[in-house]
Amino acid sequence: MVTELANIVVTAALPYANGVVHLGHIASTYLPADILTRYFKLKGENVIYVCATDDFGTPILIEAEKEGKTPEEFVAYWHKEYSQDFQDLGIDFDIFYRTSSEENVKLTQHFFLKLLERGFIFKQRISQPYCENCNKALPDRYVIGTCPYCNAEDQYSDGCEKCGRTLASGEIKNPHCAICGSRPVSKESDHYFFRLSKFSSELRKWLLENENLQPEVKSYVLNWIEEGLREWDITRDIPWGAPIPLDEAEGKVLYNWFDNHLCYISTSLKYFSGKGIDGKERWNSSKIYHFIGKDIVYHHFLFLPAMRFGVEEFKLPEFIPTRGHLLLHGEKFSKSRGWFISVRGFLNLFPADYLRYYLSSITPYNPSDINFDWEDFQVKINNELIANIGNFIHRTLTFIWSKCNGKVPEPREYDTSDKEFEEEIRKVANDVGNELGKIELSRGLRRVLEFLKFCNQYFQRKAPWSKERQAETCLYLCINGVRSLAILLNPYLPFSSEILWKQLNLQDSVREQSWDSASKLTIKGGHKINKPHVLFRKIEDEKIKKEKEKLLKLASD
Ligand code: MF3
Ligand code: ZN
Repeated sequence: MVTELANIVVTAALPYANGVVHLGHIASTYLPADILTRYFKLKGENVIYVCATDDFGTPILIEAEKEGKTPEEFVAYWHKEYSQDFQDLGIDFDIFYRTSSEENVKLTQHFFLKLLERGFIFKQRISQPYCENCNKALPDRYVIGTCPYCNAEDQYSDGCEKCGRTLASGEIKNPHCAICGSRPVSKESDHYFFRLSKFSSELRKWLLENENLQPEVKSYVLNWIEEGLREWDITRDIPWGAPIPLDEAEGKVLYNWFDNHLCYISTSLKYFSGKGIDGKERWNSSKIYHFIGKDIVYHHFLFLPAMRFGVEEFKLPEFIPTRGHLLLHGEKFSKSRGWFISVRGFLNLFPADYLRYYLSSITPYNPSDINFDWEDFQVKINNELIANIGNFIHRTLTFIWSKCNGKVPEPREYDTSDKEFEEEIRKVANDVGNELGKIELSRGLRRVLEFLKFCNQYFQRKAPWSKERQAETCLYLCINGVRSLAILLNPYLPFSSEILWKQLNLQDSVREQSWDSASKLTIKGGHKINKPHVLFRKIEDEKIKKEKEKLLKLASD
């Protein structure tokens, strides 16, 4: 479809500001979007990476209440925590803002009023659950019950985690109050509804015509449309959210799924206005990518596009890259059971790049689930990252350092295998880039590994330690191979690739290089490198054993 747009906006699903970011979210969303953005930057594209905390909604209000904090204090705390987590993981947003920002509330109210004016929002009196014990209306997560579709118990009333359905108010079976457990009564209240069904044919057409959307996700969504879309209740009788901008609706706020995805837009506009750019114009001339996990397909493939169709001011996304859940040793992450790994928990054990490497290598570009396994993690790091990548880098650098006084030799005449190797250096960036451009990040990494296999075999064959004349060309080519590698790995391993760049004693930082220069041999004979030191340390069995034992203990509890 639209491939000619010069600018790019990449977004990652906004994390709820309540402390639940775990490795699953990193794997499906933040890391893939980060890798793609870093690649685009190296390619010289005009790209920004946008994210924010998702501040509104009942779960946050409930948790803030439990901790005796105001919701503002509560979300501010988590915003700060996440900023640090993301930074330490090398997830490098150009802007990390919040759905409760003034800008987002304004844009949300603008959408509401425009949709209302255009007849896409109507008012209706409904009865909704109310807890007489707590004296509260009980929307969404304030009610727990049994899913009417798959009979899973202990589900929140707005959606079932088991079967993935979004539930309308009143649909849940056997409802009870999440705070005190009592059975709610019904109480009447005026609510606003978004006419989602009006957009069925427009949505269908968009899905069918957009070739960039993943086919397996598309067919899922098309089925929902065939089953018939329900009008969507966008009102909540709670004190935390974007206020409905009408006098008659005082005290009511908009559902947090009405405002949160608008924050992709409002946050981009905020970024652009800070740069003196006309944000709306820029948004509409950008290729848009919204990275998500598969649990929020419904919202991103129906609500989000329908609202943009209704308002006709901001263009729709070209891509909604959707990835699956991360399992931990075959089972779903569960914070309450302790069956999960937090970002901080991981970083206390291993370097960020190890996680980035492992998750990149196991996460395909499709919505199927993936599995985090400590032993597999160790194998991938020790046998791939260290034995292949680290080894080639290390042997090249240490050889030049110790045998050539750190000075890159002048190449001599190439033989056939030198020529082949040079050829390989000249084409690898293009191959990896092709995969990255298709968001096939794990395949891109696999192509890097193939390159490494080639490098190691070449080094082995040339045996620079045995024949001096051959050694010179070999080392010259290898050091250029290492330089290319630093660039190719930069999107995946931003920390290590910068350290490597320093060891190579090259100008500026690797992130400022151009991707295409990875296919050139720019290091000349005579260049001095810096003293090399080991980039990656092996993971010892002991450490893995300890983590596995923790899980075993949980499993037996
Ligand atoms: N906070 C939501 C979740 O974690 C995702 C919001 S993404 C947005 O499921 F598009 F709605 F902002
Ligand atoms: Zn109650």
